[in-house]
Amino acid sequence: MCGIIGYIGKKNVVSVLMEGLKKLEYRGYDSAGIAVVNRNRVKIRRVKGKISLLEKSLEEKPIEGSYGVAHTRWATHGRPCEENAHPHRDCTGTLVVVHNGIIENYLPLKEKLKAEGHKFRTETDTEVIAHLVEKYFNSSLEKAVQKAIRKLEGAYAIAVLSTKDSGKIVAAKVGPPAAIGLGEKEFFISSDINPLLSHTQKIVFLEDEEMAVFNENEVKFIDYKGNSLEKRVDHISWSPLMIEKGGFKHFMLKEIFEQPQVVRDTLNGRMSLDSGKVCMDEIGLSPQVLRKIKRVVIIACGTSYHAGLVGKYFIETLAQIPVDIEFASEYRYRDFILDKETLAVVISQSGETADSLAALRSVKEKKALSLAVCNVVNSSIARETEGVLYTHAGPEIGVAATKTFSAQMAALALLALYLAQIKGKINKKESLSYIQALQRIPHKMEKILNQAESIEKLALDFVSFSHFLYLGRWVNFPIALEGALKLKEISYIHAEGYPGGEMKHGPIALIDEKMPTMVIVPKDRVYEKMLSNISEIKTRVGYILAVAFENDKEIHGRVDKVIPIPSANPLFTPFLTALPLQLFAYYIASIRGADVDQPRNLAKSVTVE
Ligand code: F6R
Repeated sequence: MCGIIGYIGKKNVVSVLMEGLKKLEYRGYDSAGIAVVNRNRVKIRRVKGKISLLEKSLEEKPIEGSYGVAHTRWATHGRPCEENAHPHRDCTGTLVVVHNGIIENYLPLKEKLKAEGHKFRTETDTEVIAHLVEKYFNSSLEKAVQKAIRKLEGAYAIAVLSTKDSGKIVAAKVGPPAAIGLGEKEFFISSDINPLLSHTQKIVFLEDEEMAVFNENEVKFIDYKGNSLEKRVDHISWSPLMIEKGGFKHFMLKEIFEQPQVVRDTLNGRMSLDSGKVCMDEIGLSPQVLRKIKRVVIIACGTSYHAGLVGKYFIETLAQIPVDIEFASEYRYRDFILDKETLAVVISQSGETADSLAALRSVKEKKALSLAVCNVVNSSIARETEGVLYTHAGPEIGVAATKTFSAQMAALALLALYLAQIKGKINKKESLSYIQALQRIPHKMEKILNQAESIEKLALDFVSFSHFLYLGRWVNFPIALEGALKLKEISYIHAEGYPGGEMKHGPIALIDEKMPTMVIVPKDRVYEKMLSNISEIKTRVGYILAVAFENDKEIHGRVDKVIPIPSANPLFTPFLTALPLQLFAYYIASIRGADVDQPRNLAKSVTVE
């Protein structure tokens, strides 16, 4: 949901900002802009469309400066067009602001500012910030920003500069993330750490109602009243290479192929084949506390929600604790009932999803214990929960989540085993057999990835369909949902995921030769039931593709095409069944020429409600 970046230092400012913007592009890509200060004059360039168009415009007509800010937009208020693209200016054009978030009270503020004589040029909510800072400006930019933001309601991470208090960038936030990069005589503000990694690994994360004020020589951190703050400096170990494509056509494909390693990295060091134990010392919640848990509520959005749904099966089967799974955007508005014996598990790759963060805050008001499953270290959700179980997936750049989904499932499998152990629900022998089954998963995933070419060939036959149905049952029902989500979000083909048993209650009416069905049918406790569902579709002349165990001979006579996967412990088959569906969606989208890494209308980190 928009990416902001700002830089002061000795390097070429336009290059640093443009390189940074490219790494933030996954956050939004309907327009982009840059403002730099050159001999105390602000130079702005903005375009409708992707960052490549901004780059082209700058090549044709370069601008230079000694410091500046830039923005990539995912429109909320005001259609995507050059005028609505950030940075936004005050009346004089000497002050500019870039903003990620939504100012909810911008209309009354705009009316008031207009009545006071301010001239507005755009339809955006952000422009009020520029005019408010202008209104309160006396001699110090940070003081003016402090006064302005007190008037704002909503969510924002902003970076502001003004030639009237030159050589300085002021950043502030409530809601969306703001990371401050500390280099040698150079400082950065960015929506995430990706643009910073090639310059510095020393990062300070701003908390809500905190500001950073920096020039070329120093950075100071203050609260909204102007009091100085001592901030912890985090040393981030992700390397800049992790955010390169590494020879793959798209980030999404690279990330699909990283999954065996990501699952290994998430499991490694947390379970032992000697003792049969899962170790969760690092999560910040003691076994004594977790042992008292009587119920788990999992809260998440999108793909993380689907991982949570798989987690529900893991926890209920292994730890025998009842689990509810909730969409964060719904849960937060419900009159939900929680108590101190409930563990709320908030799953979020980014750790910044506004709905998940808001749901977490409501959960905490009801005094439930909270645990985050996050990929981004020190993200807002990770900071606000009592415990954190990190997934070790590394940065995910493709907008469609793939490797983080597998990493989330791995983390949830560990959590389920851990809860089972501390509650005495499984013995050492059982525990060892689950640990072994999990350890074998990455190698089996590799075997599936080796078949990528044949899945690509298969995809060729399906590129012109407009609808798809995905069916699964039990632990693979969530994978049907996830497979359908992948297809629709990157290829724009309508797809629905359904539990196989629900077919006859409605969706079966859709079946005809124009609606292929992907069935997920490993040999598990619902295998026979899935075969019945398959017959129901075949009777109605539906075309069927099946993801099935490679040693399943029976399935071939019943469906039109089989994507084989190695056999595994049925409970852990989602790790394997998800992969062919990701590849299938990827190849269909790629063959159709879709913008796989940056699908239309989407953004990776959804920091607005
Ligand atoms: C889909 C996808 C989204 C995210 C959702 C939650 O491929 O990536 O559905 O899963 O926006 O994001 P996080 O996990 O960052 O909270």
